[in-house]
Amino acid sequence: VGFVGTLPETSPAPVGGAGTAVVLEGLRRLEYRGYDSAGIAVVTSAGVDVRKRAGKLGNLVAALEADPLPVSSTAIGHTRWATHGGPTDANAHPHTDASGRTAVIHNGIVENFAVLRAELVEAGVPFTSETDTEVVAHLLGAAVTELGDLTEAMRAVCARLEGAFTLLAVHADAPDVIVGARRNSPLVVGLGEGANYLGSDVAAFIAHTREALELGQDQVVTITPDSVVVTGFDGSPVEGRRFHVDWDAAAAEKGGFPSFMAKEIHDQPQAIADTLLGRTDPAGKLVLDEMKVSEAELRSVSKVVIIACGTAAYAGQVARYAIEHWCRIPCEVELAHEFRYRDPVVDERTLVVAISQSGETMDTIMAIRHAREQGAKVLAICNTNGSTIPRESDAALYTHAGPEIAVASTKAFLAQIAACYLLGLYLAQVRGNKFADEIKVVLDELAQIPAQVQEVLDGLEQVRGIARSMADTRSVLFLGRHVGYPVAMEGALKLKELAYIHAEGFAAGELKHGPIALVEEGQPVFVVVPSPRGRDSLHSKVVSNIQEVRARGARTLVIAEQEDTAVEPFADVVIRIPQTSTLLSPLLAVVPLQVFACELAAAKGLDVDQPRNLAKSVTVE
Ligand code: G6P
Repeated sequence: VGFVGTLPETSPAPVGGAGTAVVLEGLRRLEYRGYDSAGIAVVTSAGVDVRKRAGKLGNLVAALEADPLPVSSTAIGHTRWATHGGPTDANAHPHTDASGRTAVIHNGIVENFAVLRAELVEAGVPFTSETDTEVVAHLLGAAVTELGDLTEAMRAVCARLEGAFTLLAVHADAPDVIVGARRNSPLVVGLGEGANYLGSDVAAFIAHTREALELGQDQVVTITPDSVVVTGFDGSPVEGRRFHVDWDAAAAEKGGFPSFMAKEIHDQPQAIADTLLGRTDPAGKLVLDEMKVSEAELRSVSKVVIIACGTAAYAGQVARYAIEHWCRIPCEVELAHEFRYRDPVVDERTLVVAISQSGETMDTIMAIRHAREQGAKVLAICNTNGSTIPRESDAALYTHAGPEIAVASTKAFLAQIAACYLLGLYLAQVRGNKFADEIKVVLDELAQIPAQVQEVLDGLEQVRGIARSMADTRSVLFLGRHVGYPVAMEGALKLKELAYIHAEGFAAGELKHGPIALVEEGQPVFVVVPSPRGRDSLHSKVVSNIQEVRARGARTLVIAEQEDTAVEPFADVVIRIPQTSTLLSPLLAVVPLQVFACELAAAKGLDVDQPRNLAKSVTVE
């Protein structure tokens, strides 16, 4: 959040000046986006002053009360969802340069920060945090000294950064200016009278203005109390897209979507892209810099055991197919609460992978402790930096899905699968199982997935309509084989969680061994069909399964690849997904099932974000 100007409507002026007051209020409205630390900087010609604290916004408010910032009408503030560096006071934003005259806040990930940091350290620049953002503060401070202008300095620095970044910066030489830059992460300008605003979304400023300007990719914006100037990274003038915000404050938090879940489902392309970002070196080799388990240890691994609960466990089930195929290491997946209590066989050569969105699931924590007692190495795949599970593990690989608010998991699930694939490919690379070319092919395919998920999302009007027409349904079955099997189970879980409908996911091959007895006239059955271009006779087997249930009266809703015409004669509804390799297909196939459950629950008038009896973070065993 950024603010510069005066508040005509506020009388008397807020204590501490308009800057702190407006920014703090904006942060409150954006707190849902990330909340493991918060900070604020105000600018006066004497310098920039910063207060920042780990933990919720309340900690920052207490710090500001104890030690108020100087009065200023220019301020920037940030709530953080940690990526590089744990959630500590030092790692909280804003970050300043060594002169204390520049302050920066940042959303996103600077991919080449390690190289830039090494360069600065070499030049004797002192660092006070572990973040990628601090690199930007130092570069920007130096660029202002050299170029004499914050906007030009911002352009020069952006030219050196790779990855995703929304940046806001202030400098004591220009106390009534804020400069913002946008690549990949969102940034919106709020247009006021005698005041202008910046925010990751409009929720930050809609209490003050409903006139807004959206920045495009690779654009820089300079705001003062009475001007807004937008240019491209190359300095060419551009016009931002102006719009009027008519959402109320609650809708604005959800980005205009009816629920956090709907928003999070639509955030999935970004969640995957961010999770994949910065994981390869310039030669295309995977580098997992958080991987604290040594290559020698990884080479000696004789078995991988994935432990998790709920949706995270289904991500593990998907991952198993990939890890065994790429690495030729046996891989088991087990619910964490079952693992812990059955006296499992694990030893020093077992790599235990614990998957958890929250990092606080007690069942998973207890399973980790048990595994480590047996001498196993534990790697956490987690969305919450600084949480218990990564802290208690030997290493952590973070998903970068951003905070997930809806209780039932969606974007974290896709990010977990993506992270598991990175781990599988990394293991294959370290162990030399796969030729570098083959790993590159998979990485290239993975890089296509965000756009393909977007394509799926753009084509789901049909699924929404079907979901709304099924509000009275009492039971739905889901079938799949191979990686489609965990997708079927996750589809069923979503429907149970959100719509309270009895739903079961089965391995399609198991159908004839029992579940087919459930099929009667009109029974809805979703079938996840593997690619017809895939291996063996998997595809034709599943097509036979569709025929079998249809012959017994089922209404078949079939998720199949574009151009898979073989399913058409037996499908009441075909939901199309783009072509990708079988192993990656769950990232696409699960999306219509998420949307189906979310829409059906909404049609029943249920609270999709907070379903009855469920908790986001289950901290009891
Ligand atoms: C709870 C949530 C589920 C989640 C599971 C695991 O049961 O309701 O949505 O999948 O916990 O949570 P974790 O944070 O460990 O991924």
